[in-house]
Amino acid sequence: IRTAAVIPAAGRGVRLGPGAPKALRTLGGTPMLVHAVRAMAASRAVSLVVVVAPPDGAPEVRALLDEHSFSRAELLVVPGGETRQESVRRGLDALPDGIDVVLVHDAARPLVPVDTVDAVIAAVRAGAPAVVPALPLADTVKQVEPRPRGEAEPVTGTPERALLRAVQTPQGFDRETLLKAHDTVVEGEGATDDAGLVERLGAPVVVVPGHEEAFKVTRPLDLVLAEAVLARRRA
Ligand code: CTP
Ligand code: MG
Repeated sequence: IRTAAVIPAAGRGVRLGPGAPKALRTLGGTPMLVHAVRAMAASRAVSLVVVVAPPDGAPEVRALLDEHSFSRAELLVVPGGETRQESVRRGLDALPDGIDVVLVHDAARPLVPVDTVDAVIAAVRAGAPAVVPALPLADTVKQVEPRPRGEAEPVTGTPERALLRAVQTPQGFDRETLLKAHDTVVEGEGATDDAGLVERLGAPVVVVPGHEEAFKVTRPLDLVLAEAVLARRRA
């Protein structure tokens, strides 16, 4: 069984504020994308990493990655699209024959530990067509009737927190299942992750334990946390 990781890294990082594209912003002096590729290549099971670069940035990203070494894994760089789903699709299109298990991992989760990666792969190899790492929520979640920014929003419900999980990446898939999901589900139908596409197919998705350090760097405060986690690892 051969396993590949697709890393969508084509986003701008609008919520992080002005600066370089998010995947190229540095943590501990090294671009976030390099950390993310290392995190996937750290798994002995991963033999190929496909990086999905900004649409016009593939040559630059290739040159950047060539400055680093990633142990055994082979590396491909392809241009991405306007949406995350489109970027993942382009990564899937670049997979060679012989890959049976596919991980999809956000470049914006640079610090995911290898044990989490391996646990996802193991669950797919054990027969689950789709596997997501996830954690219980700390906050209570309210459903609301959305109103324009600044206006008070009426609460319409409170889902039972014990039944909720916050999902992370890498999400792992049987290759056929993920390709079928991407072929079948139309963009903009509200799936915000790859497992969501598989759910729409009606195929089973299971959750395995995620990890606190697999958090997504989304807003400026997340960069502060990521730098601190990295400094602690290096201490
Ligand atoms: N992504 C992508 N192609 C897009 C949009 C997003 O490959 N057209 C990737 C991002 O690079 C990131 C991952 O999907 O690694 C998760 O997306 P998110 O955290 O939302 O990143 P951005 O879309 O870059 O950030 P923002 O939404 O704040 O602009
Ligand atoms: Mg985004």
